[in-house]
Amino acid sequence: MKAIVYTEYGSPDVLELKEVVKPTPKDNEVLVKVYAVSANAADLHLLRADPFLIRLSSGLLKPKNEILGSDIAGRVEAVGENVKEFKLGDEVFGDISAGGWGGFAEYVCACEDALVLKPANLSFEEAAAVPMAAVTALQGLRGKGQIQSGQKVLINGASGGVGMFAVQIAKAFGAEVTAVCSTRNLDIVRSIGADHVIDYTKEDFTQNGHRYDLILAANGYHSISDYKRVLTPKGIYVTTGGSMAQMSQAMLQGRWISMTGSNKMGNLLARPNKQDLAFIKELLEAGKVKPVIDRCYSLSEVPDAIRYLEEGHAQGKVVITVAQNN
Ligand SMILES: NC(=O)c1ccc[n+]([C@@H]2O[C@H](COP(=O)([O-])OP(=O)(O)OC[C@H]3O[C@@H](n4cnc5c(N)ncnc54)[C@H](OP(=O)(O)O)[C@@H]3O)[C@@H](O)[C@H]2O)c1
Repeated sequence: MKAIVYTEYGSPDVLELKEVVKPTPKDNEVLVKVYAVSANAADLHLLRADPFLIRLSSGLLKPKNEILGSDIAGRVEAVGENVKEFKLGDEVFGDISAGGWGGFAEYVCACEDALVLKPANLSFEEAAAVPMAAVTALQGLRGKGQIQSGQKVLINGASGGVGMFAVQIAKAFGAEVTAVCSTRNLDIVRSIGADHVIDYTKEDFTQNGHRYDLILAANGYHSISDYKRVLTPKGIYVTTGGSMAQMSQAMLQGRWISMTGSNKMGNLLARPNKQDLAFIKELLEAGKVKPVIDRCYSLSEVPDAIRYLEEGHAQGKVVITVAQNN
């Protein structure tokens, strides 16, 4: 089968389209024919081994898993002996990052715990756009963020992969949502349900006097004291990404603020979770959440897809079509 392989850390230039052995499922795994896979910032971090400490888990000198790609959508082609939930022909989607990655390929073996049946109303590309970004948004809003109906919620970085899901999931929970993005993304962010939009190139939301019960920062940078100033007295701030300074301030100062005051501030390291993905599947089937895809690439164009993602201005998700669904 064909796969995009990397045997050394580096830029997208080290990614190569190669012929590799088609995998065979273990007893608890299914073999999935991949129709689509999406690219995530996590692929980029593993590709470049950035931050450096990532090497402790991904391989000190060279990558342990030579095929990246976590968010797959495809059809079950073989099942291991102990697999109970899936049968041949099932259309599935999921985040396989906990089980060794491997989605940038024509076939991949995945543990059944990583997969959920694909919503019938979604294409394979749309389904592949969902797992990591949407589960991160859900864990940030519902898990750490304890979102409640009627709350004022602000999403910074609302036009990216995580942000577009965060806006829609927060709306599905009944929140009043303010989305922060740049001028060219105002319309699309409004179209997915944001009640208010703030153009970060023209206005600083930390200086306009508004207060929020929950802030999810998916991208951008503001100091933790700026974020704290715009929280309500019991408001919660969760960052999933953005600049290193934003992440480290949340990790260090955020913990102190949470211990000593009434606000909760910190960052989220999202984990793949089947129940969370199943919850999102219901929102997708109900039409409450719709994946927003910026661009689709072919398997051989994965390096270009990653380069585009690395520019940091994707409008929603970057997806790779691996096989046409006829
Ligand atoms: N913690 C976790 O477990 C976890 C999981 C998934 C992702 N992440 C992290 O979460 C972050 C977001 O991921 P993503 O997939 O959403 O990234 P992404 O899709 O690459 O984000 C791109 C978007 O961010 C916007 N953006 C860039 N600079 C901005 C700024 N200063 N203010 C507001 N928006 C800005 C861009 O809009 P413009 O073009 O308008 O600038 C673009 O739409 C990344 O840092 C990623 O590493 C973390």
